[in-house]
Amino acid sequence: MKAALCLLVLGWVSGLCGAEEKESSVLTVTSGNWTLILEGHWMVEFYAPWCPACQQIEGDWEDFSKRSSGLNVKVAKVDVTEQPGVSGRFFVTKLPTIFHVKDGVFRCYHGSRMVEDLHSFIADNKWNVIEPVAGWKSPSSVLMTGMAGLFHLSGWIRQTHIYLTALWECLLGALTSFSSWPP
Ligand SMILES: *[C@@H]1O[C@H](CO)[C@@H](O)[C@H](O)[C@H]1NC(C)=O
Repeated sequence: MKAALCLLVLGWVSGLCGAEEKESSVLTVTSGNWTLILEGHWMVEFYAPWCPACQQIEGDWEDFSKRSSGLNVKVAKVDVTEQPGVSGRFFVTKLPTIFHVKDGVFRCYHGSRMVEDLHSFIADNKWNVIEPVAGWKSPSSVLMTGMAGLFHLSGWIRQTHIYLTALWECLLGALTSFSSWPP
């Protein structure tokens, strides 16, 4: 009787754990805390729930996140529909957009979305050869803005401006690299 009860409890607990494993290991970044990505090493995917291309890479992004635990990189995603400060027109033609961010320096990731390629992009420092996003020429000053604790609002506006510029550059780069655009 006792053993049966134990088994039941065990089953219930392992069921719980199993359910937890299915939960996303990708960090969620929102409009409230996206400035977190200005520090440290990040791979950030901008997506919209309605975007089929985003849904396609969701699984790979999840696997990448799980396999990147030893890489000291944070894998995150931003739902652009939850970013009130960012105009939708920056996104509609280019979703998903993947950024590599290291210490506030943005780089666009245009590589394959295969887990192996994403992994080696970080593991083999392949991001190093990519030109940082134009308009992000003084990341240190932006970091200083954040760290020096200037007025919250002015810091926020400045960072938002740079963030928009970064996205815009990323979009332009994507458009010019696809000569056949629009399809
Ligand atoms: C950002 O905030 C959201 C909502 O509060 C939270 O779910 C998420 O875990 C936070 N992300 C990070 C990286 O702390």
